[in-house]
Amino acid sequence: MAKKIFVKDLSKYVGKEVTLQGWVRNYRKSSSKLRFVIFRDGTGEVQVVAWKPDLGEENFEKVKTLTLESSIIVTGIVKKHPNLENQYELQLTGIEIIHLSKDYPIGKKEHGVDFLLSNRHLWLRSSKQNAIMKIRHTVYFAICEYLNKQGFFRFDSPILTPNACEGTTTLFEVPYFDQGKAYLSQSGQLYLEAGIMSLGRVYDFGPVFRAEKSKTRKHLTEFWMMDAEAAYVEHKENMKIQENLIRFVIKSVLKNNLTDLQTLERDIEALHKADAPFKLISYKEMIEILQQKGIDIHFGDDMGAREEEALVEDSDVPIFVEKWPKHIKAFYMKEDPHDHEISLGSDLIAPEGFGEIIGGSQREDDYHILKKRMQEDDISLNDYQWYLDLRKYGSVPHSGFGVGLERLIGWMSGVRHIREAIPFPRMLYRIYP
Ligand code: 4AD
Ligand code: MG
Repeated sequence: MAKKIFVKDLSKYVGKEVTLQGWVRNYRKSSSKLRFVIFRDGTGEVQVVAWKPDLGEENFEKVKTLTLESSIIVTGIVKKHPNLENQYELQLTGIEIIHLSKDYPIGKKEHGVDFLLSNRHLWLRSSKQNAIMKIRHTVYFAICEYLNKQGFFRFDSPILTPNACEGTTTLFEVPYFDQGKAYLSQSGQLYLEAGIMSLGRVYDFGPVFRAEKSKTRKHLTEFWMMDAEAAYVEHKENMKIQENLIRFVIKSVLKNNLTDLQTLERDIEALHKADAPFKLISYKEMIEILQQKGIDIHFGDDMGAREEEALVEDSDVPIFVEKWPKHIKAFYMKEDPHDHEISLGSDLIAPEGFGEIIGGSQREDDYHILKKRMQEDDISLNDYQWYLDLRKYGSVPHSGFGVGLERLIGWMSGVRHIREAIPFPRMLYRIYP
């Protein structure tokens, strides 16, 4: 019995007979005695060579019936690819057909994105989508690894919540028994602030929801966020943690996903260049820079996609934009002690036009200032009493941030629309499949 292995491990078995389990990516007839099958098993692809004189009549007939995406188990001798460096092929000695697929709808011709999205359950098998999902895997675990090493405890925040974290305009409502309405979480941040008072440093990582009516390539209605929060960390150190985290993610992707980046035709040099000290500018400086670039923007305006793209057009590294006007940012951000109109928050803008990947800030830890701010914003003190309590019993300076996982994956993969960075995207006009 040949050993069952994965395509990714082929190099260790040159000259040996092995068995692989997977699917037919493609096939090609070379002559009446020779067929090539591009075989995939999730870990990689390999060319399988079916040579009739070696394989025998019966098995060769099986090979001739193969169709796109049929599931098969193949046995063969591992050979170095005759022309391609570091590639292998399998000289077929046996084949078992598990299921013959019929009329697989995704073919070689160009499909429209609507068609592909409607067939997302199948589209995920294509080599580019497979590569993006592998990058997603790396990014997810790199974030966890980095935070674990930095002493952050995982602290899972609830998805069903009694009120908003990021304003009331993008809340999804859910009926909740006799208590009226609950809302799907927009970010676990407020709960993490309770967590740090017990554990010091915590993070959550999971799906969050925004009823965003925007149809841009950077917005999903369900996306994954990693919120991190740390006691006794102030604004500057908060940005340092973010920078180190993102640079660790870049290194991890470059280390683990080179083949995937090549499959995606990602500009790998651009990722190397981004792993360097990030830039930091104030909101005020950002406005000036954008005005010099001829953009019609004024102090007090928020940033849109066009501004984000213009800001980074001549930067290889991400840019932190800090010290935002208080009134365009969330109520929980700490007031700058030197300027009461400014909050100690930062957005991290990725290079190459991939947009805001992190939003973070130092949090208001003064009970009275926070209460006043909530009153100004018409936020019910009753609903958030528990949150105010945190400022009554051993309040400490603290900060945190939230990484948009799909934005980060989009940037790493070079994928322009983040709908491809999540297995089953949910958008304004799409919830199927
Ligand atoms: O900037 P945001 O809204 O910040 C927060 O929610 C904070 N409570 C996080 C914190 O401090 N713990 O969202 C964080 C990030 C954004 O920078 C962006 O990358 C991503 O989440 N994001 C979205 N990603 C996809 N689709 C959307 N609709 C998104 N909205 C935000
Ligand atoms: Mg933001």
